[in-house]
Amino acid sequence: MISEGDQNSIFNTIKASFTRPSWAILLLIFAVLTLFTLQITSKSVFPIPPLFPATIENSGSGSGFGGPKSCSGFFAEVPPRKVVKSIVEFGGVGDGTTSNTAAFRAAVAYMESFADRGGAQLNVPRGRWLTGNFNLTSNLTLFLEEGAVILGSEDPEDWPIIEPLPSYGRGRERLGGRHISLIHGNNLTNVVITGQNGTIDGQGKMWWDLWWNRTLEHTRGHLVELIDSHNILISNLTFRNSPFWTIHPVYCSNVLIKNMTILAPLKAPNTDGIDPDSSMNVCIEDCYIESGDDLVAVKSGWDQYGITMARPSSNIIIRRVSGTTPTCSGVGIGSEMSGGISNVIVDDLHVRDSAAGIRIKTDKGRGGYIENITINNIKMERVKIPLRFSRGANDHPDEGWDPKALPQVKGIVVSNVVSLDTKKAPLLEGIEGSPVEGICMKNISIVGLAPSMAWSCEFVSGYSCDVWPKPCQQLQKNDSIPWCSCT
Ligand SMILES: *[C@@H]1O[C@H](CO)[C@@H](O)[C@H](O)[C@H]1NC(C)=O
Ligand SMILES: *[C@@H]1O[C@H](CO)[C@@H](O)[C@H](O)[C@H]1NC(C)=O
Ligand SMILES: *[C@@H]1O[C@H](CO)[C@@H](O)[C@H](O)[C@H]1NC(C)=O
Ligand SMILES: *[C@@H]1O[C@H](CO)[C@@H](O)[C@H](O)[C@H]1NC(C)=O
Ligand SMILES: *[C@@H]1O[C@H](CO)[C@@H](O)[C@H](O)[C@H]1NC(C)=O
Ligand SMILES: *[C@@H]1O[C@H](CO)[C@@H](O)[C@H](O)[C@H]1NC(C)=O
Ligand SMILES: *[C@@H]1O[C@H](CO)[C@@H](O)[C@H](O)[C@H]1NC(C)=O
Ligand SMILES: *[C@@H]1O[C@H](CO)[C@@H](O)[C@H](O)[C@H]1NC(C)=O
Ligand SMILES: *[C@@H]1O[C@H](CO)[C@@H](O)[C@H](O)[C@H]1NC(C)=O
Ligand SMILES: *[C@@H]1O[C@H](CO)[C@@H](O)[C@H](O)[C@H]1NC(C)=O
Repeated sequence: MISEGDQNSIFNTIKASFTRPSWAILLLIFAVLTLFTLQITSKSVFPIPPLFPATIENSGSGSGFGGPKSCSGFFAEVPPRKVVKSIVEFGGVGDGTTSNTAAFRAAVAYMESFADRGGAQLNVPRGRWLTGNFNLTSNLTLFLEEGAVILGSEDPEDWPIIEPLPSYGRGRERLGGRHISLIHGNNLTNVVITGQNGTIDGQGKMWWDLWWNRTLEHTRGHLVELIDSHNILISNLTFRNSPFWTIHPVYCSNVLIKNMTILAPLKAPNTDGIDPDSSMNVCIEDCYIESGDDLVAVKSGWDQYGITMARPSSNIIIRRVSGTTPTCSGVGIGSEMSGGISNVIVDDLHVRDSAAGIRIKTDKGRGGYIENITINNIKMERVKIPLRFSRGANDHPDEGWDPKALPQVKGIVVSNVVSLDTKKAPLLEGIEGSPVEGICMKNISIVGLAPSMAWSCEFVSGYSCDVWPKPCQQLQKNDSIPWCSCT
């Protein structure tokens, strides 16, 4: 074991280095994190995330757990690209009606040849650039200038069918393959999608209609999906009207999503904002999201397929995110979580006019685990159920799911929460035979409830202090341990 003192001094080194990031220091951070991951053994009764929050606690000031000023360890800055070209040079026409699929594909093919020669940047100027799917390449920056709008084609043929993800075994909505995302990447490194508040608009209405009228043949595509990719930055843009989940990093590492606006109509089905899925070291910060589903949903594969693939999501930071979703939650964890989810920090979340603030979703058959989740500084207004743990809607990929595969959920710390104009008290439901353990709730005020509203808990256990209204019996174990006390 590394002693606490050692940990602190190493974290202070990391803290100091945040101001001058360089490859050497990033490598050091990486090495240190790897070392800790290998060395930390489970010894406490219930896990408080020891490593990851420690990083945050020691690296910045502020209230609660504090936090670093940015997630600068997550994305390694790329040098300016050697080649910069405009989409116009590849025959692009920004009139809103001419298809630019061929232009984008030609541009990327050209830029691929610079991947190992200093990289390339593709500029999209002011205009409306209609396109079908195109794939990105490594060491590429896609830059949307002010007033640039990339429009997703409304012809399903422009979103070809690709293989399902191995951790899902099938399309999420329909059996078999699935439509590719509008902007897609597979096995890439050092990719940047950024600009001067340009817009990528998926024109998802056609897809939502297919879903509503039950004529959808294959699972809808994402606006942006990156598979198996490393060192990704998505920033300073507006994404709108995704057919399905808006940003989907899956099997990725070191992803920074920063200063994004993500919008979809509040009734558009399954238009999640950002879904880190079986990915490591993902930071989502300073984003405004409003959509018809979770603002952020952390996932890791579906039932037996996710269990077999065993690819977890871990080291996820979600901070300074705000928005609204009338039917879903601010941050959702699950329900697909079969590869495991651990070390998630949610800090400074502001949710309004939504169905739930934080929701942890599991189900029988999922297997996997959710462990070491830290939720701090949450502000809610007119949220129906501020905190909700739920146990599924019998939603399985096929008949092959294993009813004995129960998810293990433990180590959930929730602190400094205010919920105003609340409809219902927290609703915490674990699974029979696999309770949610090690819940710590502190400094929580749920305001605006009718006097008859009480916490409702089943198959959960933990501790609490300074929680109002008084939590359920299951969270009143008087066995104060250091990491869950209010003094
Ligand atoms: C959660 O934290 C505990 C330490 O408190 C650690 O032993 C455990 O491995 C962590 N869980 C995961 C899945 O990382
Ligand atoms: C991308 O550029 C880096 C240097 O910045 C280089 O090490 C790497 O090999 C390049 N990737 C590809 C796929 O060419
Ligand atoms: C884009 O990537 C997908 C999946 O990696 C692949 O099936 C497809 O052929 C690629 N499309 C183009 C135009 O290269
Ligand atoms: C991934 O990309 C690298 C180059 O960056 C290449 O060598 C490798 O073959 C690719 N792997 C797959 C599975 O496509
Ligand atoms: C956020 O992005 C907008 C453009 O979308 C830009 O004007 C602004 O400077 C960015 N803010 C920060 C803090 O980078
Ligand atoms: C970016 O543009 C969107 C509209 O497309 C707007 O809602 C948002 O406020 C803009 N953000 C900035 C930072 O200018
Ligand atoms: C379903 O919606 C699609 C897309 O709007 C439309 O083309 C199709 O005619 C609709 N089908 C039915 C049965 O309403
Ligand atoms: C966002 O845009 C601002 C203003 O141009 C720039 O200073 C900043 O570096 C950009 N941030 C990212 C993460 O792209
Ligand atoms: C309790 O939470 C509120 C709001 O989140 C915060 O302002 C206050 O400082 C917290 N109190 C303590 C003792 O941490
Ligand atoms: C726990 O029990 C001790 C001793 O009985 C008591 O002093 C303390 O106030 C109790 N704490 C809580 C949170 O109920």
